[in-house]
Amino acid sequence: MVGLYPGTFDPITFGHIDIVMRASRIFSKIVVVIADNPNKKNLFSIEERLDFAKECLKDYPNVEVIKHKGLVIDAVEITQASAIIRGLRALSDFEYEFQMAFTNRQLNDKIDTVFLMTSARYTNLSSSMVKQLSQFGGNVDKYVSPIVAEALKKKFE
Ligand code: COA
Repeated sequence: MVGLYPGTFDPITFGHIDIVMRASRIFSKIVVVIADNPNKKNLFSIEERLDFAKECLKDYPNVEVIKHKGLVIDAVEITQASAIIRGLRALSDFEYEFQMAFTNRQLNDKIDTVFLMTSARYTNLSSSMVKQLSQFGGNVDKYVSPIVAEALKKKFE
């Protein structure tokens, strides 16, 4: 069964990788979809985000990383995935995820969203937090892989 894990991944963090690792034990294949969403102001370009995710997930043989512009549900159809995967960190994620899952269900009733709980040590982690830490000289090694940490450092130099 193919699961599709969409997100902005600006940049990919250990929290995202934790979700992929958990999902890869449930699904036979995971397609990580880097959303090319012009409405969101990102620090990294779509190509940079794609490269980071590919590099960070290269050791997972059943994981593919692609970019996609448009609706998530279209990516589901293109990849022939059976479900959308999303991570839940805290109760505060629920409202937004609930809305998104229902919208996607209205677009295609055959596709369900599967929620996986992030490891407790990543419940406070977000891409914005990592960017802010790096911007002000904080150490982000606990949250992102070395290539991402290095790229963040360069961006804020
Ligand atoms: N570990 C760490 N951080 C996590 C996380 C985890 N396990 N799970 C979520 N996050 C964080 C992300 O880092 C991100 O942080 P930020 O806001 O500081 O950048 C935040 O949670 C949300 O990120 P993400 O999961 O990437 O959601 P998103 O809202 O940016 O993007 C898309 C979700 C890609 C599905 C959506 O925005 C999109 O582009 N959809 C296309 C349009 C569409 O299909 N619409 C119909 C459905 S509503």
